Amino acid sequence: MTTTVTEIARGVHRISTFHPDFGIQFNQFLVVDDEPFLMHTGMRKMFEATRDAVASVIDPARLRWLGYSHFEPDECGALNEWLRVAPRAQAVCSSVGAIVMLGDFADRPPRALADDEVLTLGARRLRFLATPHLPHGWDAGFFFEETDRTLFCSDLFFQPGDPEPLSEADVVGPARDAIRGGKAGPLANDVPYTARTEPTLRRLAALAPRTLAIMHGSSFRGDGGKAILELAAVMREELGA
Ligand SMILES: [Fe+2]
Ligand SMILES: [Fe+2]
Repeated sequence: MTTTVTEIARGVHRISTFHPDFGIQFNQFLVVDDEPFLMHTGMRKMFEATRDAVASVIDPARLRWLGYSHFEPDECGALNEWLRVAPRAQAVCSSVGAIVMLGDFADRPPRALADDEVLTLGARRLRFLATPHLPHGWDAGFFFEETDRTLFCSDLFFQPGDPEPLSEADVVGPARDAIRGGKAGPLANDVPYTARTEPTLRRLAALAPRTLAIMHGSSFRGDGGKAILELAAVMREELGA
């Protein structure tokens, strides 16, 4: 496995490890500021690779916040390993995540964010949107970096393989192909389509992101709001009743 680091927006570093067993990338995003923030810890078994990649940008001991979008091993499996190497670090997630998941799982207490609450990193502000069951998980939520308008997209826009770090081309087409392909596979039904799915996607689109920081696949630079609305149409068609 090799890990690459790419600055996809000012001070936002994409840490990407392609895992051949899964055939997909696992991408974390480091936001450098007075209080550095890592979006997703990566899996426990990939911790050393992620830590060494962070160390190529900042001293990992400086990390202050460990954000995650929903409680799964690729999003926060290495949380306790990070809490050990970064003494000031604290997990930050939805209230549900803090109460239901991390109260037991995390070695130190997390910080819970309410819907629409802002976490200040220094010069930058991260807005948190609670989005239960989008993409999946009761505790799900999204972080949005307001200064340069980067949306951390969690599992939305999933693309398999080992594509380029940052694309200005279409990311909706590959995501649609992946949704279609996934319906026949063992991991089908990963995204529940509910009455809240489309309104929540519209809320994300209204943030008008300029960069979509995508957890599995290429990040996207361009009209992020338009891309999210196009993805919403794809999801309605492919996953809606
Ligand atoms: Fe997930
Ligand atoms: Fe994921």
